[in-house]
Order: sequence, then C-alpha cells, then structure tokens
Amino acid sequence: MSISFETTNTSAPRRFDASDKRLINCNQVDVNQLMPLKYNWAWEHYQNGCANHWMPTEVPMTKDIETWRSDRLTDAERRVVMRNLGFFSTAESLVGNNLVLAIFKHVTNAECRQYLLRQAFEEAVHSHTFLYIVDSLGLDEGEVFNMYHEVPSIAQKDAFETELTAEVMSPEFSTETDEGAQAFLKNLIGYYLIMEGVFFYTGFVMMLSFHRRNLMTGVGEQFQYILRDETTHLNFGIDLINGIKSENPHLWTPEFQQAMVDRVKQAVELELAYAGDCLPGGIMGLNEDLFRDYVQHIADRRLERIGLPMQYGSANPFPWMSETMDLAKEKNFFETRVTEYQSAGSLSWD
Ligand SMILES: [Fe+2]
Ligand SMILES: [Fe+2]
Repeated sequence: MSISFETTNTSAPRRFDASDKRLINCNQVDVNQLMPLKYNWAWEHYQNGCANHWMPTEVPMTKDIETWRSDRLTDAERRVVMRNLGFFSTAESLVGNNLVLAIFKHVTNAECRQYLLRQAFEEAVHSHTFLYIVDSLGLDEGEVFNMYHEVPSIAQKDAFETELTAEVMSPEFSTETDEGAQAFLKNLIGYYLIMEGVFFYTGFVMMLSFHRRNLMTGVGEQFQYILRDETTHLNFGIDLINGIKSENPHLWTPEFQQAMVDRVKQAVELELAYAGDCLPGGIMGLNEDLFRDYVQHIADRRLERIGLPMQYGSANPFPWMSETMDLAKEKNFFETRVTEYQSAGSLSWD
C-alpha cells in the first residue's frame, strides 16, 4: 500500500515564502518556522555565539584571590573592582530579563528568536560569572548585589533601563500602533545600544586595565569573554534595529530620531557620573577626562551604526581596547583543553 504525503486539506495554511517574514507584527508566517531563513545575519550571530561557548568556572581564580588578599591593590583600585562588580552583577540580569520578558514576545521571527534564546543563555553565563567572582574572592554578596539600589550612580543607570522594560511589559502594550512600535525600538536602542553598547564599555576598560598590569587576570580573562559576547549582542541588536527601521520606515521620524539622540546623550552623562564615582581622582592612568572622551567616542560609534548623527567627535583615548579585542580574537583561551574553540575570526568586532 502506498502512502500519500500530499494533503488535500484545503484549510491548511499555504506554504510561506521567506520573503513573507517580518521582524515585528508578522501576520503571514508563524514564529515556529525557522526555515527557509530570511534574516541570515540572525542565524550567523547565533552560530557565532555557539562557537564561542565558555563557562566562568573554567578560568582559574587562584592568582586573583592571592592578589585580592595581598596589599598590592590600593583602596582606590579596590573601589573600582567593587563598583564594577556592583554594576555588572545586576546589569546582566536586567538585560536577560528584558530579553525574555519584553523583547522576545514582540520579535515575530524565528531566526531572531533563535538568536535571542542563545543570547539569553549567554546573559545567564555572565550572571554566573559575577557570582563566581564574588564567591571566589570572598566578597560581601549583599554589598555587591545591592549596589544597584544603594549606589546612586548605578541606580540611575539601571532606572534609565528598567523603565523601558516596564513600558513594554505593560498589559496594554502592542507594537501594532506606531507609538507602540516606536516604544519597542526605544527599548531595543536602550538595551542593545546604550546598556550593552555604552554602559558596559566603561566597565570593560576599567577591568581590562587591571589585566594589562597583570593584576586580577582571572577576572580580566572573564571580562574578555564577556566583551566578546557583548560585541555579538550589540551587532545583533544593531541589525535588528536597522531591520525594523527598513521594514517600517514611517516609524523613523525626525522627532523620533531626535528623541533617540537625546537619550544617548543622557546616557553619556549617566555613564560619566558612574565613571567619576568609580575612580574619583583617577587610578592607573585612567581619569574622568579620558573617560569623557571614551564614552563620547563610543556613543558616536553607536549612533553612526543606526544612521543617527554623531554628537561629539571625540578621539578614542584607549586605542589598546581595540588591540585587546584583536588579541581576544586570536587567543586560544583554553590552552589546557584538547578541543580548541573555534577562533572568533568570523566575529565582527566593533
Ligand atoms: Fe551580558
Ligand atoms: Fe549582552
């Protein structure tokens, strides 16, 4: 007996064309149909993320513990480490929650959701990293994990983000209206461009400065991994924002563009307040003036990537940050392992 796989059920939905897929408000294709792909960039970011899998517990902390217990670090340097951990330990969680509770629901495309699932796991790995560092160094967990309430410069950055999550999570929220879709774009810009693309980078410079001086090298190595992951998160976010823009050009009004530029400028000021609070008076050749240039430089780069005008024209005072990224690309972090991780050669570093 031959079995026919043809269906005569005329009520079944027609097979879709990849070109029917839409990033938001897609009514043609349901989100369970990954193939055929339309947004190849989303799939590529997903593959990059998977090729760079790591776990914090694979990085030895012995040297860091020794340094932390010794008198090699000044009080000012310890303050920088603590304020950094205080920011990141909860920021990773804010990003993860926004991803699964606010962004995921409204992205109506399977390949993007595939990436979001990968990113959500990476944010969990990052949260795990901060738990691992705090635990290894024997720090006061209550102090570190409460800084986002108790340290004003951290609380202000986080409040700037969490209001965006609350807006999208409100029961009446929908991307079907232009206002709603713009609020959704504002959330994506607030998290991918500002949180992961600006707020995180000052912290990377601070902690990688210790690494450059051969101090806190275990933490530094973990920060290199996080920086590599965050670069992919940022690049995915930029592709998603630009994709939504090109599918819905009417959302990108001059008023909306100005509002987004204003938000980035506001974020730059919040970040400068945080940098000043982390290193009053400066340490290790870092000071507030250099951070002003750096944050402004980074903000310009991010604005450019989504087609908004640069605001500052500041030069990059930390060119070694790009070298660090290049090194991270080439380095085989897990030299003791038999299996080499795929090199990050396919990653695009911003
Ligand atoms: Fe992260
Ligand atoms: Fe991230």
